[in-house]
Amino acid sequence: MPEPATLADSKVMNRMRELLAARGLDLPAGPIDDTPTPEEPGHPDYHRRQRVSVALSRWETATPYRYRQATATDPQVTAWADRAIADPRTAGILLLTGPFGTGKTHQAYGALRRIAEAGVDHFAMIATTSPDMYALLRPGGSEHGIQHEIKRLGRIPLLLVDDLGTEKISEFTEEATYRLLNERYNECRPLIITTNLPARADGQVDLVDKLGERIVSRLAQIATIVPIEGTDRRREYR
Ligand SMILES: Nc1ncnc2c1ncn2[C@@H]1O[C@H](COP(=O)(O)OP(=O)(O)OP(=O)(O)O)[C@@H](O)[C@H]1O
Ligand SMILES: [Mg+2]
Repeated sequence: MPEPATLADSKVMNRMRELLAARGLDLPAGPIDDTPTPEEPGHPDYHRRQRVSVALSRWETATPYRYRQATATDPQVTAWADRAIADPRTAGILLLTGPFGTGKTHQAYGALRRIAEAGVDHFAMIATTSPDMYALLRPGGSEHGIQHEIKRLGRIPLLLVDDLGTEKISEFTEEATYRLLNERYNECRPLIITTNLPARADGQVDLVDKLGERIVSRLAQIATIVPIEGTDRRREYR
């Protein structure tokens, strides 16, 4: 007598089926499909949703309340965020320029949210203003020391420096900015900067007076400069 082809055809299985049927239970014939559904661990969509959920909660923790509804709407900003999603190493710097209240900070947080929502690997961000950043980098500003802070800010996957150029230039601000930009430049990490300094007619931003030549030449090489124009939105909301 030939051997049963599969376990499901075997005498043992037939007997088990009879016993289960006697109790009103049904044993499905053939192999059981245990492929994970999108709701289960092991399915790529499940893991993508987990990453989005972690990323969005990190984004929310790092985002001031005012900007928790921020969505990037400027096409150049969304295009930069999409580049940072596709390959963070080549996105470089997004430099948002424009007068007070046009929505630079809003677009910046919106860009970071867009990246979080994409389910990228290892989403982590720090958002700071340039006065806070310089306060941290000053001697005695951090219990961990400047070198540690430069590495921390330089290596975090995403960094936002809001309001660059509000400080008076000094040897200290120039050196600190240079070290930070250089660290991120060498690590090929994306960076978003907002500034009130106006863009010149040739599209460049007049940061030389504020930041010095060394920094501006690095910025020019890797920055996407996006003017955020319009009127002061804060007046509209009054
Ligand atoms: N697209 C938008 N939709 C709704 N509200 C917005 C939008 N853009 C900006 N706002 C709101 O307008 C106000 C000013 O925007 P924001 O703070 O981003 O301006 P800013 O350009 O960064 O100004 P500043 O140069 O003074 O820092 C904020 O209250 C912000 O929430
Ligand atoms: Mg702002």
